Amino acid sequence: MTNQSDSIILIGPMGSGKTSTGRILAKEMDFDFFDTDEEVVERTGVSIAYIFDVEGETGFRHREHQALMKFLDNDNVVIATGGGIITHDESRAIIKSHERVIYLKTSIEKQIERATVSDKRPLLIGTDPASKLQELMLTREPLYEEISDIKIDTDERKPSEIALEIIDRLI
Ligand code: S3P
Repeated sequence: MTNQSDSIILIGPMGSGKTSTGRILAKEMDFDFFDTDEEVVERTGVSIAYIFDVEGETGFRHREHQALMKFLDNDNVVIATGGGIITHDESRAIIKSHERVIYLKTSIEKQIERATVSDKRPLLIGTDPASKLQELMLTREPLYEEISDIKIDTDERKPSEIALEIIDRLI
């Protein structure tokens, strides 16, 4: 059974700090921390770039959805998601149905600073990261806005400060 009240779900673009903030938040709240990217990599034993190559983005989104559903079976959890999870209709619907969805709002400039190009982020490989991130933001921003309950600006803040603000705003 998914627990509607306990799970805290972090959404936002690459480089918004979902993983680092989520870890601190979970520790502060004495919750378990889960990360959908980490789960997919652990479960398959290969990189996200490899999954994109072999199964396409569709295959990755399906695996990401399975990871999300598995985590939502637990109580008292903080879940960091991948930036594109909201493009998958079923993932977006299940996230929207939860009440503690936090959108980490981040400018393109900060995303470029923080989001390293690696096999964890195949969408940025071989592109101009700035244009790609801008293009993704155009279609994704309305979705992040639509399904989130709390929006937090991350540009000038450290993950520890963001985690504390989330706790303050959840009370
Ligand atoms: C993606 C973001 C990545 C990872 C994958 C796809 C995206 O996660 O899930 O490379 O589509 O924005 P982060 O948001 O943690 O970088």
